[in-house]
Amino acid sequence: MEIREPGDFEFGVATSAWQIEGDISGRGRCTWDDFSETLGKVIDGATGATACDHVNRLEEDLDLLAWLGVDAYRFSISWPRVMPLGTGALSESGLAFYDRLVDGLIARGIAPVATLYHWDLPSPLENNGGWVNRATAEAFAVYAESMAKHFEGRITRWATLNEPWCTAFLGYCSGYFAPGRTEPGASLEAAYNLILGHGLAVDRMRAVGATNVGIVLNLIPIVSESPSMDAVAAHVDGLQNRIFLDLLAGRGVSDEVRASCASITDWAFVRDADNAILGTPIDWMGVNYYTVMRVTEPKATGSGAVGQDSSMFPACPPMSFAPRGFLTQMGWEIIPEGIVEALRIAERGLPGVPLWICENGVAVDDVVDDSGVHDPIRTAYLADHINAVLDARRAGVDVRGYFAWSLMDNLEWSSGWTMQFGIVRVDPVSCERTPKDSAHWYRGQLLARKS
Ligand code: FCB
Repeated sequence: MEIREPGDFEFGVATSAWQIEGDISGRGRCTWDDFSETLGKVIDGATGATACDHVNRLEEDLDLLAWLGVDAYRFSISWPRVMPLGTGALSESGLAFYDRLVDGLIARGIAPVATLYHWDLPSPLENNGGWVNRATAEAFAVYAESMAKHFEGRITRWATLNEPWCTAFLGYCSGYFAPGRTEPGASLEAAYNLILGHGLAVDRMRAVGATNVGIVLNLIPIVSESPSMDAVAAHVDGLQNRIFLDLLAGRGVSDEVRASCASITDWAFVRDADNAILGTPIDWMGVNYYTVMRVTEPKATGSGAVGQDSSMFPACPPMSFAPRGFLTQMGWEIIPEGIVEALRIAERGLPGVPLWICENGVAVDDVVDDSGVHDPIRTAYLADHINAVLDARRAGVDVRGYFAWSLMDNLEWSSGWTMQFGIVRVDPVSCERTPKDSAHWYRGQLLARKS
């Protein structure tokens, strides 16, 4: 299982703040704190209080990254750690933590790639309407600008948002994610305000010297399993992929998406004058890919797959998702060709923008014994997906790098500690780190490339 011709392609690993940092008392509160501390919202009752204890184990984790030999590390900045109330004063200790992280990466020759928003909205902003309030978009841009200023010259690649689909529709439509609201019409407004916040942020960041500013989307190939489901699949595709790409390209909300959601919103929040902000040109785009979604006739029981439920798509007609074959812990099908299709969706929707795979990985049961942590399925998954990406690159897709999700096992949102995505095992009690076989494999590939 070798990576074919890595060349000058960039390899990294990814994490996000709430999922790994812990040290909840060292920062302001966010929607995920409020949500996870509400009984029944996170499957095993896990909260962000300790997570992977990353804040206290920063040096160890930096050394782990250096040991792996990655070119780049994608992490997220916790908005409430650096700006505890979401607006106003910055936290010196919060900034100092990210200074240590960023300087530590640079000292080890690893490029920092920072995401500004990986779902941890400061609670005071949610109490003021959250992403359904346009003021949150403005607040995000102010926060983004202050980060660009603070890290100028040290962080030279930025993503504004991670997967706005999840924030908008899992957070405000199905309520499966924080803040747990079930307001389908408002969730469309949240999606719009997220991209507005992104556009405002890009402008303000560039004005203070930021370079390489982009966004990360979870683009998912939507497969209609029968002609009778084509229209429903188009509805799902419209909300999963096209609405975000259309807004980012400055095309506004398409007539198709407007019509297919007309029963739940009059779209009064859309302003033509916003198109230039929404469509602010970006320097790169990240694509997160895990699986495809197959749309079938409605069935009595759900697919059991995390994130694959019609309640997650506003105004969705009756339908079911039907993943095939071997299913991961998340209930997701493994289909490496899908990663190429996800890149093609990005290419078609926003032509001419360099692409990175910013997340890709798999949750499977690991075998832990005295000889190590054995995860052959994960190693095969990573190898197959990386090779599919490299084949696409040879076929002309402008994809420049790949980040495995995740550096380490972590708090998988509403699934708590029940899903293992890491290439490094984290003991949920002691937080001890143990590289899995897949980490040794990845490291071997990266070392071979450098020799
Ligand atoms: C993505 C998220 C990431 C992680 C993976 C499994 O949607 O961006 O934080 O939860 O899924």
